Amino acid sequence: MTLNVNYRKAKQDDWKGILELYNSLSDDDLYLRFFTFHKLTEEEAKKIADTREHYTVIAEINGKIIGEASIYFDGEFAVVVHPDYRKLGIGTELVKRLIEFAKKTGIKKVKFYTLPENYPMIKIGKKLGFKIIEREDEVYAYLDLNNENVILEKT
Ligand SMILES: CC(C)(COP(=O)(O)OP(=O)(O)OC[C@H]1O[C@@H](n2cnc3c(N)ncnc32)[C@H](O)[C@@H]1OP(=O)(O)O)[C@@H](O)C(=O)NCCC(=O)NCCS
Repeated sequence: MTLNVNYRKAKQDDWKGILELYNSLSDDDLYLRFFTFHKLTEEEAKKIADTREHYTVIAEINGKIIGEASIYFDGEFAVVVHPDYRKLGIGTELVKRLIEFAKKTGIKKVKFYTLPENYPMIKIGKKLGFKIIEREDEVYAYLDLNNENVILEKT
């Protein structure tokens, strides 16, 4: 069965759907997202939905928000997909959309930090051509958009 996933820029009234998405995450997921055991508050969900200081793309299925990815203007981003909808390429697609946004707005480098055990996130980075730098207790990954050889999809 093919899933009909809609990708679009977040709007202010998406905050409830974003909060529900974060409430579906396990403690481990939250740790991978925030590097601390952190439960999203209503205020933080409203901040994510407010795209004045960052750009946020969401993935939805039948109006339910099942993925979110945000990039700041310094190029750092983070992504989250609902546990029931993983391994379907949604995380990859969200990151691709952030890269497209970064290219359009002149962000020179997109980057993320994650933990060495976050295999899916590292896989997304590798697939999309990020340089992966493994440090002792974290992984730093970046994609230089000045480089004309940016690979948007490497299989
Ligand atoms: C990281 C995350 C966003 C990936 O979302 P996703 O929608 O599952 O990503 P994709 O489906 O695009 O998967 C990316 C790759 O990882 C693989 N993968 C995903 N989850 C996997 C798992 N649990 N075990 C093995 N492989 C996995 C996929 O098969 C895919 O590889 P492929 O392209 O060769 O098939 C999701 O796991 C998540 O929300 N994690 C918690 C929050 C987090 O870690 N965010 C990152 C902060 S920077």
